[in-house]
Amino acid sequence: MILLGPPGAGKGTHAERFSRRHGLDHISTGDMLREAVRDKKKLGLKAKAFMDRGRLVPDALVIELVRERLLSGNTSKGFVLDGFPRNLKQARDLERMLKGIRREIPWAVYLKVSQATVLARLGGRRVCENCGRIYNIPNMPPRREGVCDKCGSALVQRKDDEAETVHKRLKVYEEETQDLIEYYRGQRLLREVRGDGSLEEVQGELDRVFLEDRKG
Ligand code: AP5
Repeated sequence: MILLGPPGAGKGTHAERFSRRHGLDHISTGDMLREAVRDKKKLGLKAKAFMDRGRLVPDALVIELVRERLLSGNTSKGFVLDGFPRNLKQARDLERMLKGIRREIPWAVYLKVSQATVLARLGGRRVCENCGRIYNIPNMPPRREGVCDKCGSALVQRKDDEAETVHKRLKVYEEETQDLIEYYRGQRLLREVRGDGSLEEVQGELDRVFLEDRKG
């Protein structure tokens, strides 16, 4: 499955839970890039300046990351792509990669949310600096303030969640990523899920769409 939607739609939150429930590999280009930045890898050093400014990292860097992951062999039961593809070039390269390993093009789920929801959610987001687990101060707080439930590390605000960068990311989404919705609709691969609901509501809707597609 490909999860599509604007920054703050809930892609990371749901991709993580959904893939755990269904035994799939969660492939998040945002997480992989943040890890490369944290580990001061060459790729991370190149990507950081783009990420901090809310811009897309150059296609070649991201496509290579995804290619390595798809070839790693962990995806045999299926996978959830979160944050990739981000533009038409990435979508077409993904198709070529999948053809090369004899896999079908996944269906795409569009998590549809209002701009007001996005802004509220991103303002309250905190992430674990160690394992990347996502929290939300008003909606999904940790058990102990500022501490990750899963690994006990500190929770931080993502640098690109500062108001100015959020606006830039939303603009980049409109200009570069939104077209993918029509692209996948045109291929009859698009499903829509209302992402404004509670965690449980969105989760239930994603499961329903997934099971329907498996039957179909
Ligand atoms: P990335 O990490 O992919 O960021 P994004 O697409 O902007 O998405 P976000 O992570 O901000 O939001 P999300 O939809 O995952 O929402 P979340 O689940 O956290 O990319 C970051 C950067 O990396 C990019 O700007 C770019 O520079 C680079 N990059 C990544 N991929 C790239 C690519 N393919 N090509 C080029 N560059 C790339 O939820 C948000 C908040 O809401 C959380 O606090 C959560 O707890 C809360 N929440 C979620 N669902 C609910 C709910 N149902 N009810 C209440 N609260 C909820």
